[in-house]
Amino acid sequence: MIKPQVKPHAGKLLVLTPGMGAVATTFMAGVVSARKNLSKPFGSLTQLQTIRLGARSENRNPLIKDFLDLAGLDDIVFGGWDVKADNAFEAAKNANVLSPQDLDPLKEELEAIEPMTAAFDQRYVKKLEGPNVKDIPNKMELAEALREDIRNKMKETGATRAVMVWCGSTEVHLHPAACHQSIEAFEEGLRNNDDSIAPSQLYAYAAIKEGVPYSNGAPNLSADFPALEQLAEQENVPIAGKDFKTGQTLMKTILAPGFKTRMLGIRGWFSTNILGNRDGEVLDDPESFKSKEVTKTGVLDSILQPEVYPELYADLYHKVRINYYPPRGDEKEGWDNIDIFGWMGYDMQIKVDFLCRDSILAAPIVLDLALFLDFAKRANKSGIQEWLSFYFKSPQVKAGHVPEHDIFIQHFRLKNTLRVLGGEKPVTHLSENFEEEAVS
Ligand SMILES: NC(=O)c1ccc[n+]([C@@H]2O[C@H](COP(=O)([O-])OP(=O)(O)OC[C@H]3O[C@@H](n4cnc5c(N)ncnc54)[C@H](O)[C@@H]3O)[C@@H](O)[C@H]2O)c1
Repeated sequence: MIKPQVKPHAGKLLVLTPGMGAVATTFMAGVVSARKNLSKPFGSLTQLQTIRLGARSENRNPLIKDFLDLAGLDDIVFGGWDVKADNAFEAAKNANVLSPQDLDPLKEELEAIEPMTAAFDQRYVKKLEGPNVKDIPNKMELAEALREDIRNKMKETGATRAVMVWCGSTEVHLHPAACHQSIEAFEEGLRNNDDSIAPSQLYAYAAIKEGVPYSNGAPNLSADFPALEQLAEQENVPIAGKDFKTGQTLMKTILAPGFKTRMLGIRGWFSTNILGNRDGEVLDDPESFKSKEVTKTGVLDSILQPEVYPELYADLYHKVRINYYPPRGDEKEGWDNIDIFGWMGYDMQIKVDFLCRDSILAAPIVLDLALFLDFAKRANKSGIQEWLSFYFKSPQVKAGHVPEHDIFIQHFRLKNTLRVLGGEKPVTHLSENFEEEAVS
């Protein structure tokens, strides 16, 4: 295999998060804590997972981070925007994900991360308000101001490169409109304050124009339309989305492929959640919930292929509910009732009660996306990075491609992409003697 040219990482990597709420501050705190050797970055492939190279008998299984030239945790510097004026330490305290024992030793570093003023419009996140907002009425000028923020933050932190991961609230559900169809139409829409352009799209546009890889952790329309996909190709910027795969959907994409591999049918899958953090409050608004519902419900159809297996899955009744319940804070509870059937059509039931911590599952995803997107950029990759589907509820794919939701296939593809980017052959998991066996 020819080893692709990858520019070596040198200098600091600025990780920018529009939104400095529960997920972003848990991510920042975890990175600082791991740097101080106070905790381990559990849940992160870039930090903990190995990768098999060559035949099993060669016994080459380095850590991913030793195999590829990824930026290290010590190289990371942070920047963010938020509608609220709290620094990362105060915001993390308010989010109440991490305990004071874990947060207090990180106080100095987290207090230094002050949010930049946000590009925000309450029409797109109805249940949110705050003082730390740019007072610029025109969307193109707002995007320009965000671009300037990126350049200033790079100077201030001395970073040589940046990546952006949207960790802001879920905006209302929007369909791609005429202004989303080409770069020219989008820029015209920015100048004319087109209502179809939500704030998250301004951040995505600003990032791509600055050559900064962009990833969307929420379900709203942000960089997943032709105009920004074309812009990402044109500017040689990798992008990925959307909606971090955590909690209940993570469980769904682990369980559903298992039922399907055993050819077990499913009559119904009822999923309900109670959560009490700010994300839960925002999702209490039906228009923001609509964005979530779309990304959450698409998963099963794609894994189970009811068109190929109509007797097993065509009549599946799939329902997803999210209920805002303040006493729970970030410690969400997700119940799944799954009605499956097997041999001769006999029914069985599975109940899953996941006492989950959403931001604890999301934080390592932010880290991995930041490091892999920075690597992808240095490897000269541009446009949609489908190999990062592993991290998303609703993987963004090129026009005409079918998104893959099965987490095991996504993982297989992710690791084979890493092998190829590192100049190694992809693995097939066939026997080492496969060729002899196949002909004998
Ligand atoms: N926690 C998870 O497991 C998980 C999983 C999938 C997706 N998500 C998504 O990630 C996002 C962040 O989740 P969270 O739990 O941190 O929510 P959060 O409410 O704690 O934080 C979101 C922050 O974004 C800020 N914000 C909103 N609009 C903004 C804008 N235009 N510019 C700058 N800041 C803005 C809010 O003020 C808030 O502080 C949400 O959209 C959520 O749906 C989270």
